[in-house]
Amino acid sequence: MAKFLVQKSGPLKGKVKISGSKNAVLPIMAAALLTEEKCEIKDVPALRDVEVMCQLLESLGARVESDLDHNRVTVVSEGSLHFEAPFDLVKMMRASVLVLGALLIRTGRAVIHLPGGCAIGKRPVELHLKGLKAIGVSIDEHQLTRGIIDATAGKLRGNTVYLDFPSVGATEVIMMAAALAEGTTVIENAAQEPEIVDLANFLNKMGARIKGAGTDTIKIEGVEKLKGVTHHVIPDRIETGTFMVAAAITRGNVLLENVVPDHLKAVIAKLRECGAEITMTEEGVRVRGDKRTIVSTDIKTLPYPGFPTDLQSPFMALLTVAKGPSVVIETVFENRFMHVGEFNRMGANIKTNGNCAIIPGDKTLQGAQVVATDLRAGAAVVLAGLVAEGTTEVSQIYHIDRGYEGFVDKLKALGANIMRMDE
Ligand code: UD1
Repeated sequence: MAKFLVQKSGPLKGKVKISGSKNAVLPIMAAALLTEEKCEIKDVPALRDVEVMCQLLESLGARVESDLDHNRVTVVSEGSLHFEAPFDLVKMMRASVLVLGALLIRTGRAVIHLPGGCAIGKRPVELHLKGLKAIGVSIDEHQLTRGIIDATAGKLRGNTVYLDFPSVGATEVIMMAAALAEGTTVIENAAQEPEIVDLANFLNKMGARIKGAGTDTIKIEGVEKLKGVTHHVIPDRIETGTFMVAAAITRGNVLLENVVPDHLKAVIAKLRECGAEITMTEEGVRVRGDKRTIVSTDIKTLPYPGFPTDLQSPFMALLTVAKGPSVVIETVFENRFMHVGEFNRMGANIKTNGNCAIIPGDKTLQGAQVVATDLRAGAAVVLAGLVAEGTTEVSQIYHIDRGYEGFVDKLKALGANIMRMDE
């Protein structure tokens, strides 16, 4: 199994170009199935999850040309598609469920075995199904008890759907199906993430009529047909936040290019509270951790525009070495503290109680053998390794490959002492 070897590194310095957003490109690729015409997607990050989505679309009958070296993917899905997503692919990536809406539109049926992905909680899909049922989809309840979504679309008609929680995936799946339903669908308590806005922009370019994406109420007027388009994916705000923390934790001075600072308001506010200096320049965002002492702060993860759950673990790495104690409360996923055990192996001495973690801070971390317990937690232990004494050996790095394009090369270019060992 491949590993990362991370040594204590000095302050990271230089510039890093942020890649296109993983969480934006996956639903956009799924939405490309909504037309038989060619969709060209640019600024696509070269990631394992993107490769899996390419394979999934191909297995459904689409023609996919991926040139990930140049960050481009084209999708053409002429003719009839298969309605069943192969379990081998679905189990590798939870985001596979995003094809649900498009499959129902194109084939009238969708069969998907409930997906895997990061082990960070139950991650159910009842909200996706609630929304689809409201617009005319029938779900085989017996199959569902066996972990299989077997959905059949009757005549899809717009309706009002209230989401009990602003689920990102549910909002995306409902938006895709409603784009081609008859009449108007309103999603109340919709997710407001920038990736939802990017998907709505993509769909609107294709000819959809979606208003309100980025707010808690999205209104979708169904249209009869969508057309092929070219689209540039937004920058990855989670990769951005990870490199911001990397600059702060190593007391570095890093310019991040291809960033939308508005997507990171909560993260920037919290990094400033910790003593990092963040300035917006013409070329990008500069993060300096070398100006003041890095001090503790408390964090509570929330749906956007609150502090993102995906940056909870990278930020916790920073808090382990900050001056003073911090409290982190995770409200989005019920089981997202698996990295705590790994930080503790490095001497962080964090205590958890339910969804609350207490980080004493003021620690000099020690290199250790640790595990990337999920995608973001993997990046987080690498960041901790950059300031730990000695060597940190990170295993299960396939999680990191799922979501960070060129992670090692980007860190190395900033002066990090990190190496990949492929066995
Ligand atoms: C997306 C992101 C993921 C991020 C998450 C929250 C992608 C590909 N992934 O995941 O990186 O961590 O948003 O920002 O975009 N829930 C229910 N019932 C449902 C659906 C969700 O209870 O039907 C709960 C989940 O268990 C979880 C919470 O809602 O506790 C958030 O899930 P959701 O917003 O759906 O996340 P994903 O779309 O899976």
